Amino acid sequence: MARLVRSRAGGYVITCFYNTVIIQNRFQGKFFDMFIKYLKSIRKRSYYYNKGVVMSNNRSLIMLVDDNATSLLDARGILADCYDICSADSTSGMFELLKVHHPDLILIDANIPEINGFKAVEILSHDPNTADISIMFLVEKYDLATYQDKLNASDIGYICKPFFGPVFIKRIETQLFMAAQQKALESQQREFRNFSANLQKMVKNMSVVIEAESQRVWELQTAVISVMAEMVECRDDVTGGHIERTRRGVGILLRNLQENHIYEEQTLGWNFEMVIQASQLHDVGKIYISDTILQKPGKLTDEEFSIMKRHTDYGNTIIDRIEAYTQPNELTRHAKIFAGFHHEKWDGSGYPLGLNGQDIPLQGRLMAVADVYDALLSQRPYKSSLSHEKAVSIIKEGKGTHFDPVLVDVFISAAEEFKHPYKNVQGENLREEMYN
Ligand SMILES: [Fe+2]
Repeated sequence: MARLVRSRAGGYVITCFYNTVIIQNRFQGKFFDMFIKYLKSIRKRSYYYNKGVVMSNNRSLIMLVDDNATSLLDARGILADCYDICSADSTSGMFELLKVHHPDLILIDANIPEINGFKAVEILSHDPNTADISIMFLVEKYDLATYQDKLNASDIGYICKPFFGPVFIKRIETQLFMAAQQKALESQQREFRNFSANLQKMVKNMSVVIEAESQRVWELQTAVISVMAEMVECRDDVTGGHIERTRRGVGILLRNLQENHIYEEQTLGWNFEMVIQASQLHDVGKIYISDTILQKPGKLTDEEFSIMKRHTDYGNTIIDRIEAYTQPNELTRHAKIFAGFHHEKWDGSGYPLGLNGQDIPLQGRLMAVADVYDALLSQRPYKSSLSHEKAVSIIKEGKGTHFDPVLVDVFISAAEEFKHPYKNVQGENLREEMYN
């Protein structure tokens, strides 16, 4: 324990064997340095010297503010063994001290002249540098009635003068404990807010990165599929633009299904954009069909037609191979269905499996309409293109035989939308001898 007591000569004398002491500015020099060295040698606790006050790093600092010298001395005498103390005999002195100290607790006389304790508390609470300091009023016992209302209205505690040692120390301990708890709580809340803010920022940044990456993958995927589809189309030059037009046709049908709440169960969970993209691969199997068949200017023989029909299975095989390099996903799943079932017919007379009705996956039924409509309007070496009206009429005739009757109704209601990509196509002498 370290003690600082006034000497007979008017200075200060240190009696110290353990902890921290209070020391005046005047008490410096060789002896002071030796004393500090001694303190450090006998204790592992750290000390620092700050504007006249020697303080340990782990003792609370209490600032006493009172114009009554006796009160200051009394308080210091009671508290100095347990706490670091600094003091001021006026509020202006307190503000000066606060420029160099940040006490854990301020004990301020409620009735101090100039700026009284209540006003000083208001100033301190509005200053961000001092707002976190715990404060208690010191009130003369005989003045208590005078300040009772103000004290009751304030959320700041008070201690009556003259001090009664054990009670005084207990009140200070309790106040410092509560202040420490409050600071710890605020610190935790601050840390949590910072953590939460950082987490949100991190998630936001990650989302941006993931979104950008997803967009990049989507663009790459779109490009690869489009190029694959174009490569197939280039070999089958009698149907130039077929992929793009059927893709658009499927899109029109899907949008109308959605708007009219048709087949909602069958399209539940579909990413329409992905479905439309996948539709471009419906004829990808044609890459395995020889040019002599694919580009034959006339009607196919039965044998050639049976070979041509294999493009549905070939399409499945190709997409299986794509999946072998990646993972089965929504795009390839739709693409396989488009490729495998777009030549099935509602009455079971289609290929490759001869499925009928609702057994044909919706993707296949959608493409059947879009594919035939495009074939009817396309000019080929062995036929001219049909008019939109004629094509609509033929598809209407196929309702319930070739095509899903519900989809034919949807097609008819949206027929004007189909017209657009064909507006430059001329001629109407159809030889209804298409391979399908
Ligand atoms: Fe096909």
